[in-house]
Amino acid sequence: MSQAAELNSHADVVGNNDVPLVRATNLCKSFHDRKVLDGVDFDVAAGQVSVIIGKSGSGKSTLLRAIAGLEEPEDGDVTIDGKLVRSGGERTADWNHGAARVGMVFQSYTLWPHMNVLDNLTLAPRKILGLSASEAEARAEKALAEVGMAHHIRSRSTQLSGGERQRVAIARALMMRPAVLLCDEITSALDPPVAAEVLGVLARLKEEEGLAVCLVTHDMAFASKAADRLVFFLNGRIAVDTSPDQAFNHCDNPELKAFVDAVRID
Ligand SMILES: Nc1ncnc2c1ncn2[C@@H]1O[C@H](COP(=O)(O)OP(=O)(O)OP(=O)(O)O)[C@@H](O)[C@H]1O
Ligand SMILES: [Mg+2]
Repeated sequence: MSQAAELNSHADVVGNNDVPLVRATNLCKSFHDRKVLDGVDFDVAAGQVSVIIGKSGSGKSTLLRAIAGLEEPEDGDVTIDGKLVRSGGERTADWNHGAARVGMVFQSYTLWPHMNVLDNLTLAPRKILGLSASEAEARAEKALAEVGMAHHIRSRSTQLSGGERQRVAIARALMMRPAVLLCDEITSALDPPVAAEVLGVLARLKEEEGLAVCLVTHDMAFASKAADRLVFFLNGRIAVDTSPDQAFNHCDNPELKAFVDAVRID
């Protein structure tokens, strides 16, 4: 069984039908007295691909970062795999369980330049999960195969192209066997064909492995082809949460319509 399939079978065991894989309720975060997350409720179902769009500064990255624990909200609950990992803004005793189940990939390449691909992948699982070198290497081989990068296991990250680095960054996130992968504009520095390749990896992970993905992107072609759901952020709130077809072709929200039209023209 592939690692993503393993993790999903695990999610089936610990989850239950009433509790989504991720449930964030009333997330609140302010910077300099400005509410950037204004009581956000956000659920992710197992195996679901959510595309998040919205104007610059509307709070998309802050939402993903808050779910991943890179931002501390002032208020809000987060449940992951049925476990409450944040309550009233505070981390609970189950926090470590939740953090381990959330993977995140960023726009800028975050690979260590002085390490090869294998070491980039195995560092965290060895340190945090206590895997032996051979266990971590076996896991790295699998994760790299999932993103079509197995042949680069000994390459230095500086020898890789941008698209290859992002595929390795996805593999590195898979190493921790996340239940959900949060991706923040991971293709915005790439040329369109390379971006399509990287997004194709995510679509395949969803189709073949049932991995849940939340993706901030302006790539509307990917959203209409591969997303189960389109979430439109406006002023720190989710203004629309609907199917891509509904959002693109039958939209009755004027702000969303204007946003989608502007992105399409880009
Ligand atoms: N660490 C921080 N300190 C101060 N302000 C911040 C911080 N992080 C985010 N902000 C502010 O919070 C607001 C929301 O930021 P966020 O990065 O979530 O927006 P975004 O929707 O992801 O925008 P973009 O599309 O440009 O990436 C912005 O006004 C930003 O300046
Ligand atoms: Mg952002």
